[in-house]
Amino acid sequence: VTRSVVTGVGSFLPDQIVTNADLAQIVDTSDEWIIERTGIRQRHRAREDQPTSDLATEAARRALAAAGRDPSEVDLIIVATTTPDMTFPATASIVQRKLGTPVCIAFDVQAVCSGFVYAVSVADGFVSRGMAKCAVVIGAEEMTRLMDWTDRTTCVLFGDGAGAVVMEPGEGQGTPQDRGLLGFALRCDGTKTDLLYVDGGPATTGQVGHLRMAGNQVFRHAVVNIAEAITAACAAADISVADVDWFVPHQANQRIIKGVGDRLGLDENKVISTVAIHANTSAASIPLALDTAIQDGRIKRGDLVLLEAMGGGLTWGACALRL
Ligand code: ACO
Repeated sequence: VTRSVVTGVGSFLPDQIVTNADLAQIVDTSDEWIIERTGIRQRHRAREDQPTSDLATEAARRALAAAGRDPSEVDLIIVATTTPDMTFPATASIVQRKLGTPVCIAFDVQAVCSGFVYAVSVADGFVSRGMAKCAVVIGAEEMTRLMDWTDRTTCVLFGDGAGAVVMEPGEGQGTPQDRGLLGFALRCDGTKTDLLYVDGGPATTGQVGHLRMAGNQVFRHAVVNIAEAITAACAAADISVADVDWFVPHQANQRIIKGVGDRLGLDENKVISTVAIHANTSAASIPLALDTAIQDGRIKRGDLVLLEAMGGGLTWGACALRL
């Protein structure tokens, strides 16, 4: 069994920026409240004619360029999204067409904000068993499409964007010193679906629906659940939490990120935070944050990185990898 290695990372944000002050024009909120309760200062928003697959395709192109790979070499595409272009086909099928990739394996993974951690773990199965040699794993979301713009408790929290990684078979003996995905922990507790969901769908209302959330209950579960998953992923990877060079959390709320850090005693200089500028982009937030920290020179090849997330489902998980 070989190991899958992340060989390239890329991301894409739509041009339009929506500030907290912009939102204060449409709901009863303020820049101060949003910053104090969430750490969010702005979010990006896709154009009306710019579907999720457009953001996903551009992020994938950039990740492939970073890996030195051509779209013609891709043999597996996984898109983690909860805001697909259409009910079907999968957004991955549309990305496959837009990238111009030859016939290959392509499908979506739906685990909401945890989707990227789930998708990377699924791709690792294909790559490490020799069933894919050049996998593109994308987190792409247009959460602004699911907002009830009269609900100030949710509409200030989310944004649009996409990030992607290329995963290829690695060399090495499979020790924690070798590059590659080292271990993961994935979880779902379906008894808590009512804490965070979209109130529509093809087999219920026939409408897309709006995001509904019991914010402070989700918050309470988040810190405990994520901390447990990080500990479990490190155990699966045969490393200790103290070995990790960089934590790249799902970017939902700065207070959740800090709460997890405090619970595990993490050095805050090792925790990547982009929630101020991206807001919560669901499955896209981890690869967007990862790419941001690679671009600014913090995260480098050879670093031990830990990805973690929690979202609707409730789903949550963590994944340790050496870049
Ligand atoms: N502007 C001004 N006031 C607001 C706003 C707003 N945008 N939203 C809510 N309020 C008010 C509430 O109405 C409430 O007023 P009241 O006391 O008069 O009833 C008050 O602010 C406090 O509301 P709380 O919900 O108790 O505020 P809290 O500190 O819990 O913050 C928040 C709310 C930001 C939603 C927080 O609970 C949170 O981040 N939860 C995590 C949920 C999350 O991020 N989910 C994303 C997906 S899951 C994940 O990724 C982890």
